[in-house]
Amino acid sequence: MRHVTLVQLFDHPITQKYVKRSGMAHAVACAYHAFRLAKKHKVDPDRATKAAFLHDIGHYTWYRDGKWDYDLYKENDIHAIKGSERAHKLLIRLGEHPRTAKEIALAILLHTDSYLPEGYLELNPLQHVVALADELDEEPGGDHHYRTISDDRARRMLDRLDRKIESTLIQNEMKHSM
Ligand SMILES: [Fe+2]
Repeated sequence: MRHVTLVQLFDHPITQKYVKRSGMAHAVACAYHAFRLAKKHKVDPDRATKAAFLHDIGHYTWYRDGKWDYDLYKENDIHAIKGSERAHKLLIRLGEHPRTAKEIALAILLHTDSYLPEGYLELNPLQHVVALADELDEEPGGDHHYRTISDDRARRMLDRLDRKIESTLIQNEMKHSM
């Protein structure tokens, strides 16, 4: 079954520091989108929701003279690379299965191609779901990073999602054992 829950991830100081930096409301919304999309695309909801929740954990702050510098960000950003590694470390620390941690890390690495040279990325279904979940919650001008949510509400929403994921996994297992 699941080794790590979304609530466990939420409670960790690394998540509190870095996911909050890029927007907890966005992260929670993406996790919910990923849950719905996982069903549609037949991918594991546990991995999809964790990757979507953590996908922006690698953001750095690009400020110049106290203001966000979008050009600086666009030119130098590697948040997907950084986030992939950071999420992997966090998951392993919390006791995640190494195979799951790797798949989540890869989905985070590939959730955007904004840092890659021009080209075409072929995503697997899990990676596709995570990229889609992010796109669905994006707002023009990056406003999704500034929406707020209280700690209490975020935690309650993730707890509810944890329970949905668990019951989906049980249902899937029962289907396979019949
Ligand atoms: Fe995002």
